[in-house]
Amino acid sequence: MSQSNITLRFLAEPSTVNFGGKVHGGTVMKWIDEAGYVCASAWSGSYCVTASVGHIDFIRPIAIGDLVEVEASILSTGRSSMKIKVEVRSAHPTEGSYTKTTACEIVFVALNEMREPTPVKKFVAAQF
Ligand SMILES: CC(C)(COP(=O)(O)OP(=O)(O)OC[C@H]1O[C@@H](n2cnc3c(N)ncnc32)[C@H](O)[C@@H]1OP(=O)(O)O)[C@@H](O)C(=O)NCCC(=O)NCCS
Repeated sequence: MSQSNITLRFLAEPSTVNFGGKVHGGTVMKWIDEAGYVCASAWSGSYCVTASVGHIDFIRPIAIGDLVEVEASILSTGRSSMKIKVEVRSAHPTEGSYTKTTACEIVFVALNEMREPTPVKKFVAAQF
């Protein structure tokens, strides 16, 4: 596959509600980890594990029933590690204009069949 950017889209289900009636922060963190995993696996072509999760900004709450998109993009690569930027956005289904709700950086490491760190292809950012 070898792509550096992926987006997951789905509805915020009632099962994700917190005590304030919005989507639970832990659920948003799970979505971030899942999108990061797909991005890291697609880039490396290997099984990947989360090595670290950086600062998470919870900018806006997400309403139950909103459309959610979670975009993960490779920022940089090391030998076996990949730094990935993840942005979560949400929109009311009848409006369709997305607002940024959450932002985070996360590091994944690619593993081989022996479950040891394995080299990944170098990422070169596009020049504009
Ligand atoms: C991540 C892990 C594979 C690294 O293994 P390790 O034996 O420390 O391997 P290394 O020291 O060779 O490091 C491998 C790479 O991971 C990076 N790394 C290790 N720990 C890191 C951390 N806390 N934050 C960022 N990067 C880290 C290293 O910088 C190195 O990057 P590079 O190859 O691009 O230079 C190991 O710590 C691990 O399995 N952790 C548990 C992962 C896990 O269970 N995640 C949650 C569920 S998916």
